[in-house]
Amino acid sequence: MKRQVGIEALAIAVPRRYVDIEELARARGVDPAKYTAGLGAKEMAVADPGEDAVALAATAAARLLRTHAVDPAKLGMLVVGTETGVDHSKPVASHVQGLLKLPNNMRVYDAQHACYGGTAGLMAAVEWIASGSAGGRSALVVCSDIARYGLNTAGEPTQGGGAVALLVSEQPDLLAVDVGLNGSCSMDVYDFWRPIGRREAVVDGHYSIKCYTDALSGAYRNWRERALAHEVVRWGNTLPGEQLARILYHVPFCKMARKAHTQLRLCDLEDAPNAPPSTPEAREEKAKSNASYTTQVASSLDLSARVGNVYTASLYLALAGLLNAEGAALAGQRVGLLSYGSGCASEFYSGVVGDKAAKRMAATNVEAVMAKRERVSVEEYERIMRLPYEAPEPLSPEPGEFRLSEIRDHKRLYVQGTAS
Ligand code: CAA
Repeated sequence: MKRQVGIEALAIAVPRRYVDIEELARARGVDPAKYTAGLGAKEMAVADPGEDAVALAATAAARLLRTHAVDPAKLGMLVVGTETGVDHSKPVASHVQGLLKLPNNMRVYDAQHACYGGTAGLMAAVEWIASGSAGGRSALVVCSDIARYGLNTAGEPTQGGGAVALLVSEQPDLLAVDVGLNGSCSMDVYDFWRPIGRREAVVDGHYSIKCYTDALSGAYRNWRERALAHEVVRWGNTLPGEQLARILYHVPFCKMARKAHTQLRLCDLEDAPNAPPSTPEAREEKAKSNASYTTQVASSLDLSARVGNVYTASLYLALAGLLNAEGAALAGQRVGLLSYGSGCASEFYSGVVGDKAAKRMAATNVEAVMAKRERVSVEEYERIMRLPYEAPEPLSPEPGEFRLSEIRDHKRLYVQGTAS
């Protein structure tokens, strides 16, 4: 029998503070509707220097292992996907291994390719298990990032931060991946990058949106070709993309998911064999379908609108949002997932939601994690943004959570909050 492989459980970690996006717009002299209706944002996570990619990754991973009673001895691989690692050489993953006291007989490394690194790690884990090399062991894949463009920049309302930890195994309670159907598309472009030593990303914003939609088209068409060959979808009364119950996108800001969905539909409308003649304008209008966006995309965006961009974790925050909202209703149904990393690389894949998705998500309780956050003023957000990278505030971490406490002799030291 073919081995089922995919995501068994997940957990999230978010910075303890957030700013209201309308308040930020007013402080910048911008019509709040630009950030809400124009970009699709509601709130934006504000990470302080104590909440770096390691601290957030370790918090999410510890929460995953604790909540889902994972035996660390059964793990054989730990990959961290991150764009905001803390060292040119030492991986975030080895910090996480140490902080969680994970076994030594594991393959442990980081995967970096802007926002695509998490999916690169996930696919390495899925294929490692599917190949039989894992010998029954599971993998831990953690996506962790701080999205940062700086104060008073065009990218400012699209910042954020957080982590999503994924348990990958032969018991895919959340999502069984359709192994072997993945479609990829990559190009050498300068749309978003972060030269060594810089804290803030450099971005050619409007060009980055074009690179995203171009790469999506390539990856989706590549997946569709394989999915058609395996009769997972077909050309018929509905378009192949419409045969996926939901489609999840990389979400640098929520409006991007709508643009991405329009592009995906356009690929189908342009390529449909035996379609009645139509003009490019008519196809574009049809691609923009509100009904399709509402049915297939909107329900995945709640957490993304409240956290903002999380680079590698953005797609998986959308997955958490979707399964949190609709895990029970989607059991047994196929969804599509589009990962995009600037530079650029994209991958489209699909999977079937597991019967136990709702139960797993209830245990994960993402709402409880979100509810603990504290809203801060724009002044406080600006103060946090100006804190030096190497001098974390002396705040106590919440029970079970990790924080960077100090950097001594170029070594980063972390503390975990204990129950009081
Ligand atoms: N009311 C309602 N809507 C309004 C409005 C108002 N008063 N004013 C403007 N808008 C709308 C605009 O029409 C526009 O919508 P459409 O794109 O649908 O036309 C939207 O608000 C944004 O307006 P602008 O395009 O004028 O905004 P901008 O030029 O200031 O910047 C941005 C937008 C380019 C996304 C910028 O925030 C940015 O550079 N962000 C970072 C880069 C990014 O996220 N790129 C995404 C693709 S790359 C990627 O995905 C990798 C990654 O994670 C970074």
